[in-house]
Amino acid sequence: MGKIKTGFDSDFLWGGAISCSQADGAWNEGGKGKSTQDCRWLDGTWTRDQIEEKHHNNPFSHDELVAALADDGTEFYPFRRGNDFYHHYKEDIALFGEMGLKLFRTSVCWSRIFPNGDDAEPNREGIEWYRSMLGECKRHGIKTFVTMLHYDIPVNLVVKYGGWKSRKTIDFFVRYVETIVREFGDLVDFWLPFNEFNAARFSPWDGVCLVKDEEGEDFDQAIFQCLHHEFIANALAVKTVHELSPGTPVGGMIARFCTYPATCRPEDNLQAIHDDQYSNWFYTDIMARGKYPAYMDRYFDKLGIEIQMEPGDLDIIAANTVDFLSFSYYFSQVSTCDQGWEKTAGNLVMANKNPYLETSEWGWQLDPLGLRITLNQMYDRYGLPLYIAENGLGTSDTLEADGTVHDEYRIDYIRQHVAALKEAVIDGVDVRGYMIWGFLDLVACGPLTMDKRYGLIYVDLDNCGKGTAKRYKKDSFYWYQKCIESNGKNLE
Ligand code: BG6
Repeated sequence: MGKIKTGFDSDFLWGGAISCSQADGAWNEGGKGKSTQDCRWLDGTWTRDQIEEKHHNNPFSHDELVAALADDGTEFYPFRRGNDFYHHYKEDIALFGEMGLKLFRTSVCWSRIFPNGDDAEPNREGIEWYRSMLGECKRHGIKTFVTMLHYDIPVNLVVKYGGWKSRKTIDFFVRYVETIVREFGDLVDFWLPFNEFNAARFSPWDGVCLVKDEEGEDFDQAIFQCLHHEFIANALAVKTVHELSPGTPVGGMIARFCTYPATCRPEDNLQAIHDDQYSNWFYTDIMARGKYPAYMDRYFDKLGIEIQMEPGDLDIIAANTVDFLSFSYYFSQVSTCDQGWEKTAGNLVMANKNPYLETSEWGWQLDPLGLRITLNQMYDRYGLPLYIAENGLGTSDTLEADGTVHDEYRIDYIRQHVAALKEAVIDGVDVRGYMIWGFLDLVACGPLTMDKRYGLIYVDLDNCGKGTAKRYKKDSFYWYQKCIESNGKNLE
């Protein structure tokens, strides 16, 4: 009998994560082209209710796309501003170094490398910026976990080819992947082709760049067709990394919706199995097991979905499975066949409410134990190394006159999740890294606001992009510093 672990391995990777569209800004500098995320808009003067109403009830529409293509301003387009990481990266990465961070996750912006997606040559200025930024991480002894596509593709690919509806986008993506793996391979420790594969179903503009009201389109059919193309693109990205950068792990990711049956009624349990399959396992099964799972046949049949495939597609998916799995974890939800069950908000979805859990300021159900459950479930199913690619608390903060931010609520949240993570390690789960989401305040993805803050570092910008953009260390910065220093032993 082997001895059980008592805590984290000495090489456990304590990390932090951001994405290019939410952080970089500088949307039209350095040769960058307009991306799909640069097209999402918000009136920063709106109330919280107006913002939430738009976020939950209005999928990205054709009119919004047309307006965004015609508008080159930043006023109504928060992702074009981000938190200005593009200009602050040296100072920011120095702060990460001071914190003792071991792993930094960010994404490469496709439209900074190929401004239109179909350009013959990459944009050298974009490549140089990324080399400089990733090199800065290395100078501070920080490993890098790089997402190739965190929701944003060059918008030209949508306008000209229909985005992921077209197989051409797979070819353009592969060219982009080959370019960044060749150019940045020596500076990247982990590659992640796609952020949150399952976002497509819940947030189609983010996940597969689809507008909702395309005339005559069967929306579900279009989503799954796009997803099929993304699965091939993902497999080819895995192949490319294995060939061009052998030894560098390349993985898959979903937004993990931890799901509990509402009662012990058999119907609720069956519902929980289905919810888990359709929202979570479908995606990781394809990436890790290399084939479409049988349970989807019945689901596709019910929705009348027929995925168009070409000969060889399934072989590509089968031959190129991922080396690790990762996921974002923010909340858990309840599965029930009771249509009248009370609802609350959640990441990308509206969730069924769990009477045993508290919620965050934004209505997301707080469930640290769900993280331990998720880690056990995923490791049981796949036996692959796991990384928590995102976890954190989005809430408002107050910057005091002396430049401090007392965010004991965030410390409490992270403390409880790290404690649950440690239990999963002791359970025997091979989990190798934990990345706090948005650990430098950034534009939140759902509401498009700055005031839903996740950071351990405060950025002085408001929902309209007004402010000094100065960075301030929150109390949680010092807490995480001690947690990292003690390798997860000191959580006081
Ligand atoms: C994940 C995304 O779904 O959730 C991030 O990968 C996002 O981009 C995060 O920011 C938190 O969601 P939100 O809407 O609070 O920013």
